[in-house]
Amino acid sequence: MRRTQVAIVGAGPSGLLLSQLLALSGVESIVLERSTREHVAGRIRAGVLEPGTVELLEEAGVGERMRRERLVHRGFRLAFDGGIVRVDLARHTGSTVSVYGQTEITRDLIETRAAAGADVRFEAEDVSIQDLGGAPRVRFRRQGRVEEIACDFIAGCDGYHGVCRRSVPSGTLRTFERAHPFAWLGVLADVPPAADELIYASHERGFALCSMRSESRSRYYLQCGSTERAEQWTDERFWDELRLRLPPEVARNLSVGPSLEKSVVPLRSFVAEPMRVGRLFLVGDAAHVVPPAGAKGLNLAAADVRVLYRALAEYYRTGRTELIEGYSERCLARVWKAVRFSWWFTAATHVLEDDDFNRRMQLAELRYLTGSAAALSSLAENYVGLPFAAA
Ligand code: APR
Ligand code: PHB
Repeated sequence: MRRTQVAIVGAGPSGLLLSQLLALSGVESIVLERSTREHVAGRIRAGVLEPGTVELLEEAGVGERMRRERLVHRGFRLAFDGGIVRVDLARHTGSTVSVYGQTEITRDLIETRAAAGADVRFEAEDVSIQDLGGAPRVRFRRQGRVEEIACDFIAGCDGYHGVCRRSVPSGTLRTFERAHPFAWLGVLADVPPAADELIYASHERGFALCSMRSESRSRYYLQCGSTERAEQWTDERFWDELRLRLPPEVARNLSVGPSLEKSVVPLRSFVAEPMRVGRLFLVGDAAHVVPPAGAKGLNLAAADVRVLYRALAEYYRTGRTELIEGYSERCLARVWKAVRFSWWFTAATHVLEDDDFNRRMQLAELRYLTGSAAALSSLAENYVGLPFAAA
């Protein structure tokens, strides 16, 4: 039977980045991914990187194209009440964020792993975890054949719908969940962005976000009903609704064009505790999901990977298990703060219910926020990413 040190389930950003950082630390892994390479490389996801994520990508040796192509943003805008206010991240935190799509990061990681001759197996079906409490193995089917890999550890990097979290014996994990009663409808288009920074717009028709991937490619989102389907929205309807939710001067200058992609993203807050069960680690979306306002999903996944690869590297170098044992606690402390921030930012900017009192409270929150240096500083500190605990 094939053996490896770490079997990684899932080749999203978590799984790929983990395998890359482990390889640089001399730890061997095999990655098993259900989808095709093309599907994984083509998925459109968020695109705002905290400085800590940028550093980790550089540490992993996949920062070169990002450094060249990213857009460095020193702030973002909040639009409400017909006006627009700038949140100066650089002034409040001394930091900036980088706009670089998750799609590009995934592509860079896949190419780097492939060039290194890494064992990344796409189209691995029916992945299952065997003997988690003893000598763990991962079983899967590929090209019609059932195979097994024996390993020391399993990293569940298989996202919210993955198999790893579901393989944990019942009663072991405690989960916390809030499904938000609305979704985001996203559109990608080859048009110049509405502004040089992101605009988060809170409007009584619903939230809207103007984001971007480059100077010629934009990403827009509209708050929509959680049961709506992308096919219900023609491009024209999307652009018309977006204009209605933006301040007039932004709406007037909006460049529109045919959509390259249109999809509905559900909004969910979810955490599973603990993030380690014996030799199985849950990483990224497999362990926690946040609503996308604030763009924390990918950054949290990267933070988990940072803690995990160091813990495993330390174990293989010295035999010490303290960092492995501390993985869950260390990750969760920061995860919950990001869940809080994403939940709060969502609640402050989205139409929650048709309730006048709620709307007044929201406006008061936004007016207070944008009029107080202390509140702006708190928003900025969370947006650029809270510090990592000392290792
Ligand atoms: N077997 C093998 N692979 C699986 C299985 C399975 N049973 N189930 C899911 N996968 C794969 C998916 O096809 C996907 O490629 O696991 C991968 C999980 O990737 P992501 O969902 O992107 O999760 P993660 O790598 O943790 O990245 C977190 O992605 O979802 C966004 O907002 C999130 O930005 C965050 C980031
Ligand atoms: C995106 O560009 O997809 C994006 C940006 C910022 C967010 C969420 C998504 O808060």
